[in-house]
Amino acid sequence: MLKLLVTGGAGFIGSNFVRFVLERSQDCHVINLDKLTYAGNLENLAGLENDPRHEFIQGDICNESVMRESLQKGVDAVINFAAESHVDRSILHSSEFVQTNIVGTLNLLELCRKNRIRRFIQISTDEVYGSLGSSGAFTEQSTIAPNSPYAASKASADLLVRSYCHTHGFPGIITRCSNNYGPYQFPEKLIPLLISNALSGIPLPIYGDGLNVRDWIHVRDHCAAIETVLHHGKNGEVYNVGARQELPNLEVARRILRALNKDESLITYVEDRPGHDRRYAIDSSKMETQLNWRARISFDAGLQETIQWYRSNTAWIEHVRSGAYMTYYDRMYGRRSQTLSER
Ligand code: NAD
Ligand code: TYD
Repeated sequence: MLKLLVTGGAGFIGSNFVRFVLERSQDCHVINLDKLTYAGNLENLAGLENDPRHEFIQGDICNESVMRESLQKGVDAVINFAAESHVDRSILHSSEFVQTNIVGTLNLLELCRKNRIRRFIQISTDEVYGSLGSSGAFTEQSTIAPNSPYAASKASADLLVRSYCHTHGFPGIITRCSNNYGPYQFPEKLIPLLISNALSGIPLPIYGDGLNVRDWIHVRDHCAAIETVLHHGKNGEVYNVGARQELPNLEVARRILRALNKDESLITYVEDRPGHDRRYAIDSSKMETQLNWRARISFDAGLQETIQWYRSNTAWIEHVRSGAYMTYYDRMYGRRSQTLSER
């Protein structure tokens, strides 16, 4: 029986990963620890309430006693998804990003080291590499040059993981993935925001000239990459994860509108994000050649499926927009404020 501690497992990628591993293996137990910030949502885990292989703990990765107690449940591996994850928010309020993404990761590293955890995967991002010109792609050797407070906090965490591997022989691995899309993504990120606005017939905000390029991967392909790294990755290594599906934001907006049969006049150019990275592109040859993983979902197929998911889950969209999912927590798990440290 493989016992995983997944942090941030009520967020977008974490919840998809928890479902993914539980679907793939009967012989797996997941302790899912999440602070339930605005981005954490137990509705993302609906259906798992009665699964004995899934245990949810509301907790903060910065909290030493909560994390120690969780790690002492016989954990084989830790996968750290927990983070403040939205660039725009990091521009307005950087301190939560430093707290969770850096201080929280350091707390985890130290406790995992002391508890002799055998595998630690840090879920990082291609944004640590900064911005690209019109050609080329980030490799694992590219210079770390983060441009937003979000990216800087993730890069700092990566450097801490690297230092623990080097100094303590710590069994850490870093994955750096490109932009994800798919079900359960909070509609502050580009694709779910555009889909949910288009569904409501309200303007689709496009920053600047709309020609900034992102390299899109379906969240399920990312989950498969993480599972591969969990079983076959080499300690101390960095693995880039991407699907070679680069698109300018404007083209993404047009495809969503076409799929929903809505008019392009909904596209509205708005003021650009300060320090907006122009282009990301990820070279995932190392994952492909060394670990035999490759992305399988084409952007067109993945986008259709994602649009369909949002279309069929308008109640989910309403709840996350209104914050009403807190009542779902009360219904499913009792008092929202109860944390491990209070029990
Ligand atoms: P998300 O914002 O949807 O989820 C983050 C989760 O972490 C939430 O459930 C939140 O409640 C939880 N959390 C926040 N602070 C916490 C804390 N102090 N303690 C415990 N839990 C806490 O983010 P996401 O898009 O699912 O991203 C997950 C990870 O993947 C992040 O580390 C992010 O940097 C990385 N990543 C994201 C993308 C992307 O496109 N979304 C791409 C590459 C890497
Ligand atoms: P986002 O989903 O915030 O991801 P990231 O900044 O981490 O890549 O944004 C993706 C791209 O979409 C980025 O170039 C910014 C742009 N964008 C818009 O044009 N309008 C929006 O309302 C948002 C949220 C993003």
